[in-house]
Amino acid sequence: MLPVLIPQWLALASLLTTTLLLYPSIRTILFFLHHHLLHRSALPRYLLSSNSYALITGASGGIGRSLAKELIERGFNVVLHGRSLKNLQEVQRELDALGTGREVRLWVRDAAAPWEPVGDAFDKLEITVLVNCVGGTEPPTVLFDQQDPAYLAGVVNTNALFPFHLTGALLPQLRLLPRALVLFIGSKAGEFPAPRLAGYCSSKAFLELFARCMDADERLSAHSGVSVQFLQTGRVRTKSHLFEKGWDVPSADEYARAALHAVGVGRWKVHPYWGHGLMGGAMTLVSAGFVERKIWSMNMSLEEKRE
Ligand SMILES: NC(=O)c1ccc[n+]([C@@H]2O[C@H](COP(=O)([O-])OP(=O)(O)OC[C@H]3O[C@@H](n4cnc5c(N)ncnc54)[C@H](OP(=O)(O)O)[C@@H]3O)[C@@H](O)[C@H]2O)c1
Repeated sequence: MLPVLIPQWLALASLLTTTLLLYPSIRTILFFLHHHLLHRSALPRYLLSSNSYALITGASGGIGRSLAKELIERGFNVVLHGRSLKNLQEVQRELDALGTGREVRLWVRDAAAPWEPVGDAFDKLEITVLVNCVGGTEPPTVLFDQQDPAYLAGVVNTNALFPFHLTGALLPQLRLLPRALVLFIGSKAGEFPAPRLAGYCSSKAFLELFARCMDADERLSAHSGVSVQFLQTGRVRTKSHLFEKGWDVPSADEYARAALHAVGVGRWKVHPYWGHGLMGGAMTLVSAGFVERKIWSMNMSLEEKRE
């Protein structure tokens, strides 16, 4: 058989085109490997002194509680935020029992209520890490237009406006420090619609763009030492999300460790958990319509199980 002759310019053009087309995927794969195999967390950089505090919202349960446990074990004093003093005191007892010698303070505030200024509550604390974790919603059983406006306002307050205002209130004092860190716990619900969850999904999307703006503002306008990261989150097994554990469903403790490992990985938005990262990557390879239908049917079957 005669060899097929390809002009040199055509071979070169094909190689260039293939490289260009594959470049985004290659970059994503290299970043994934760097993140999970080589990267070392930059969290210790934010432990400025033995007086450094991490403020964690929604810390009376779930991911927030696990984050608080990890942070206190890594040398931070902690401020636990929640709406129930009893639940917070329970976590406080658990953390005290670890015997780290670090201080645990409590801040009771219903994130679903309209924002009220924090006043001088944190003025005297060297808060170097703010974790905006509070969030979630009860799944509504009726369509958006039939949902109680008070319920919707609570969802928007909890998932969007509370972290928005709290970050704004703390920024001036964070900027006075050589380094500070603001983390946002996001949700894939902010990227893809879920049945009857327009309030929750759009609040999480708001949070994502807010985090992006804060990251850009601090680097390019304020030139401050405040770093901002948005931690994109898939399914995590917690008390309010009783998913079956699996390669893409970590426990709250596993997720919290991954979240703190991702600190300083070099992107403002990242999937801290490897299983969520793989799932996120796979979602970009198939049609958005297919992903939407899959998420929709997954949520509907969850609802059927609940009923
Ligand atoms: N779990 C998942 O699959 C998943 C997936 C994507 C994103 N996320 C995000 O991860 C974050 C944590 O979720 P999670 O699953 O850990 O939730 P969770 O298990 O329900 O825990 C949420 C914690 O926040 C507190 N909280 C809820 N509403 C509050 C309010 N209005 N004011 C003050 N505290 C309030 C709860 O306090 P009480 O105990 O006192 O009620 C609870 O301790 C949320 O932002 C959520 O959107 C979770």
